[in-house]
Amino acid sequence: MLISEQQLKLQFIQDCLSNKNDNNKGVAKPFLKWAGGKTQLLEQFSYYFPKELKEGLTNYYYEPFLGSGAVFFYIAQKYQIKKAFLSDINDDLVITFSVVQNNVYELINELSIIKSEYISKNEDERKNYYYKIREQYNVEKVHIKYDKYYEDLIPRAAKLIFLNKTCFNGLYRLNRKGEFNVPFGRYKNPRILDIDNLLNANRILQIADISITDFENIKDKIINDKFFVYLDPPYRPISNTSSFTSYSKYDFSEEDQIRLANFFCTLSKNGNKVMLSNSDPKNENPSDSFFDDLYKGFSIYRVKANRMINCKSNKRGSLTELLIINYKQQPN
Ligand SMILES: C[S@@+](CC[C@H](N)C(=O)[O-])C[C@H]1O[C@@H](n2cnc3c(N)ncnc32)[C@H](O)[C@@H]1O
Repeated sequence: MLISEQQLKLQFIQDCLSNKNDNNKGVAKPFLKWAGGKTQLLEQFSYYFPKELKEGLTNYYYEPFLGSGAVFFYIAQKYQIKKAFLSDINDDLVITFSVVQNNVYELINELSIIKSEYISKNEDERKNYYYKIREQYNVEKVHIKYDKYYEDLIPRAAKLIFLNKTCFNGLYRLNRKGEFNVPFGRYKNPRILDIDNLLNANRILQIADISITDFENIKDKIINDKFFVYLDPPYRPISNTSSFTSYSKYDFSEEDQIRLANFFCTLSKNGNKVMLSNSDPKNENPSDSFFDDLYKGFSIYRVKANRMINCKSNKRGSLTELLIINYKQQPN
């Protein structure tokens, strides 16, 4: 049965109204699955957050490797901050945050159309539908303008959320041509539309300044008042055998890690609080002191990560993740 757009809009308004009462003060969580997402580590991280943040004395929060925003959502709801500067170099990721911030109802409407088209199909048809949306998403990319906010970004954000929820493993991967090339994922009941969470995220994002930019450019936005910066760059490849081939602007080379360490030092000289997380090369090679050398003089901690070292059973085991801070660790 074909559902008209009018019926969908009506359904959408009913869904929103029935959700309204309990979403007013619900907890906002990341609305995308993202590689390196920090949701599992938040409780451990919170021990290392600066005392000023915990005491409500930090006004400005900066997160220039935003990803799914797990740390932002946690901090913005647990502590009192006036404003958050959120950025990432991934243009499609960032515009999706902007759409959730500015046009959440229109986004929900787009997603409810996609969802009802998808859910009504059998598995083969769903697969075809996924590849059709992926193709549209890649073809339309050249026409998208990322330097301004406008309404074409709304269906684009809806497509990214749909692809993220239905692709294999929630991966985000581009080929050499910059096309999203993750295959279809077989999920029985993918959560394409989570109205409550989108509305909660929209509410929390009202304090955010959101931009597409390289991490170093946040220096132009730094306000010389009390601030806290959290840096979570893409991981340095953990295995010696995994050769690094950089072909996308989203890749992060060893030179970028060094550039970031210099940036960390510059921020520290101004007397502000900075925290950085990264993969710990010592998991695989105890003599690899790349980060210990780069961040000499700062406090380096190792927290337990839930990721597995690799799929070979003899190497299976939990990993540690590096946490580096430029201030004294304060008990909770
Ligand atoms: C490990 S992820 C961040 C994950 C995030 N903390 C979370 O919880 O989901 C790293 C992010 O850095 C972004 N990135 C890569 N190179 C960058 C650069 N030069 N400047 C800013 N962001 C960059 C990637 O697009 C990716 O979203």
